[in-house]
Amino acid sequence: MKSSSWDSSIGDLPAAFLDRLPDILQPEDLDIYAEHVAAERPLTIRITDASLELSEVEATFASRGMTCHRSDWMPESLRITPPDRSLLKEIDGVLGNRIFRQSLSSMAAVESMGIHPGHDVLDCCAAPGGKSSLIRLRQGSDGILVANDLSRNRVSRMRRLFELINVTGVDTQVHDAKTLGSVFPTCFDRVLLDAPCSGEGRFNLNEPATWTDWNPGKIRRLAKLQVSLLKSAIQTLRPGGRLIYATCTLAPEENECVLQKVLTRHSSMVRIESISTPFEGRRQALSGWNEVSFPDWMSNAVRIVPENGMTPFFLAAIRRL
Ligand SMILES: C[S@@+](CC[C@H](N)C(=O)[O-])C[C@H]1O[C@@H](n2cnc3c(N)ncnc32)[C@H](O)[C@@H]1O
Repeated sequence: MKSSSWDSSIGDLPAAFLDRLPDILQPEDLDIYAEHVAAERPLTIRITDASLELSEVEATFASRGMTCHRSDWMPESLRITPPDRSLLKEIDGVLGNRIFRQSLSSMAAVESMGIHPGHDVLDCCAAPGGKSSLIRLRQGSDGILVANDLSRNRVSRMRRLFELINVTGVDTQVHDAKTLGSVFPTCFDRVLLDAPCSGEGRFNLNEPATWTDWNPGKIRRLAKLQVSLLKSAIQTLRPGGRLIYATCTLAPEENECVLQKVLTRHSSMVRIESISTPFEGRRQALSGWNEVSFPDWMSNAVRIVPENGMTPFFLAAIRRL
């Protein structure tokens, strides 16, 4: 195993995981990641009710000794420091459930979809519904939104969330997303595939449950599933439609390698395009992995490193021709 200053600070994480990191992250990003994993997770919220002023939310947090930081690219969001979650319930009560805890990278995934009012949208793996709720906002509640998930329990939870934060007009469905291509062929202008993944971007030293079940076999299993999900999701796009493939993991097998497998076979049907949303922590996707070089188009995909309240993510925008 390689050894350096960053891995001594996060040395409790699985050795096989740490061993891969220098091949995935640039040297300066290793330190950024190590610091992120050892610290408390960033606390970011989104205001779900347009009539609630940012300044009112800022004053509510300030009265409890917390500071709110605005974002240039995501006007409804605030990053709260220190990231003290213990007061959130009380603040929710004061503000009447009009704020919603959501990571900035999740918001970036939805903003990257380029949704306009009237677009018909499919969220393939939607539960518990955070991203779908933002999609509905960007649709201006105009156009179809199908929010699908495999898990009936999680879909019930999603429906409760929509009721709580007053999101209406969402068609919640329960399908294996591998079948969505035949259930909804060429039906949508925008599609989100926020794929089940090994969640390496959510690892936190203070929460061992986030990393104790990590193993290379899990990555292999998930990568196979992600390839099937992406193939199916592409089939649901209308010509000209755009799909965002998203994960919250670092593993190239679940990110660049999935794109390479699916897009190389469908090159006459789809292409990868750039993502212009100006969120922080953007890095280019890897140019190769395990001695294999990726095609030039891979540089349009984006890795997010945990800077300025962002959390690790991978995003790729796919246009159906
Ligand atoms: C990363 S989470 C989605 C989070 C969600 N997009 C949000 O923002 O709240 C992945 C979801 O994929 C669902 N899932 C796993 N396998 C699936 C499949 N074969 N078809 C559809 N959904 C699946 C899981 O139940 C889980 O809810």
